[in-house]
Amino acid sequence: MSGSLSDSAAAAYAANVAHNYGSPPVTLVKGQGSYVWDAAGKRYLDFASGIAVISVGHSHPHWVKRVSEQAAKLVHVSNLYRNEPQGCLATSLSRYCGPGRVIFCNSGAEANEGLLKLARLHGVKKSGTEGACIGVVVAERAFHGRTFGGMSATPQEKIQKGFRPLLSGFTAAPLNDLAAWEKAIDAKTTAAVLIESIQGEGGVNPATPDFLRGVEKLCRERNVLFMIDEIQCGIGRTGKFFAYEHAGVKPDVIAMAKGLGGGFPIGAIWMAPPYDELFQAGSHGTTFGGGALASTAGLAVLEIIEAEQLVAKVAERSVGWHAELRQLIALRPDLVKEVRGAGYMVGVILNIDPIPVVAALRAAGMLTAPAGGVAVRLLPPLNASPAELAESVAILRQVLGDWKAA
Ligand SMILES: Cc1ncc(COP(=O)(O)O)c(C=O)c1O
Repeated sequence: MSGSLSDSAAAAYAANVAHNYGSPPVTLVKGQGSYVWDAAGKRYLDFASGIAVISVGHSHPHWVKRVSEQAAKLVHVSNLYRNEPQGCLATSLSRYCGPGRVIFCNSGAEANEGLLKLARLHGVKKSGTEGACIGVVVAERAFHGRTFGGMSATPQEKIQKGFRPLLSGFTAAPLNDLAAWEKAIDAKTTAAVLIESIQGEGGVNPATPDFLRGVEKLCRERNVLFMIDEIQCGIGRTGKFFAYEHAGVKPDVIAMAKGLGGGFPIGAIWMAPPYDELFQAGSHGTTFGGGALASTAGLAVLEIIEAEQLVAKVAERSVGWHAELRQLIALRPDLVKEVRGAGYMVGVILNIDPIPVVAALRAAGMLTAPAGGVAVRLLPPLNASPAELAESVAILRQVLGDWKAA
């Protein structure tokens, strides 16, 4: 019976779902906490978390209660009218971001589109002319999404191929090479920089604190917006609410999505004053952004993070977990090069293609995600327990320990 459900889902995908995600290997039917189950009843430790989305675990009772009560009360009214949860969520976020304003949207790429539009408005204000100051400096190996703005900001051939011409004005410079950024940021023509505090898709590459501080200083000196993409690394994932906090910097603009909704699609743009006045009535918007249900999902996530002190727990629990993970290098020095990242955002960096390793881990009962052609990425829910972290290490030891080098 359960096998046939998997077969029918596979047949429906094969016949009717577009092939842009390839062919997904299993049909998942249930999630609870840090675990998911497939249609055949097999259980997996979910350390992919829907790619850093399931921040408070699957079907957390508080999240389910808040979302279902809101669904029964009011789902959507558009932004022609106020809804209570949107205002509450913006207020709650300001506790983490600081004083400023928030625009809500529905995804990470859409949040970054908003950032890029804001950069254009800043450029107009700075230069006095539309089109004269449109430059955006981004990091090599960055990933900022699949829309035209997102792709333009993502200097990777595999993302951009087939879609050119893209937006103009983007310059890519090597991450953590401050001298290169100093050259790339032009006081006249650069409107903004856009940086992931820790690159996710690019292979779990942390920006160093010195680099972030150096870029922040350059931005201040040259009147350039300091924009940080916290879509994957934010919302508690690295043991601080935002990963840039490890460097002690203060962005002008922050993009959020993924973990903010705990599984419900939501994105957000936070803008510091005075940049929060750049978007005036009619200059930006989206029908679904900040809907009552999505905003309630975001509020529920923040309530759980706060009530269960998850940011502190991630910081505390990740120390021992990282130490255990680093022992994989001694176990298989021929396969494992490095373990890097922060908190619950970790890349086990391999000498071999990570994709077959991700498949073997799945067969052994754990979901992970490949990144950058080099990493097995581990992104546990923020409330993953010490026992679940230990289970992830045991599965990795088993799979890598038994790995037959080609
Ligand atoms: C850092 C970063 N920015 C932007 C995006 C795009 O987000 P979305 O897939 O929600 O459009 C992602 C998605 O992986 C991401 O990791």
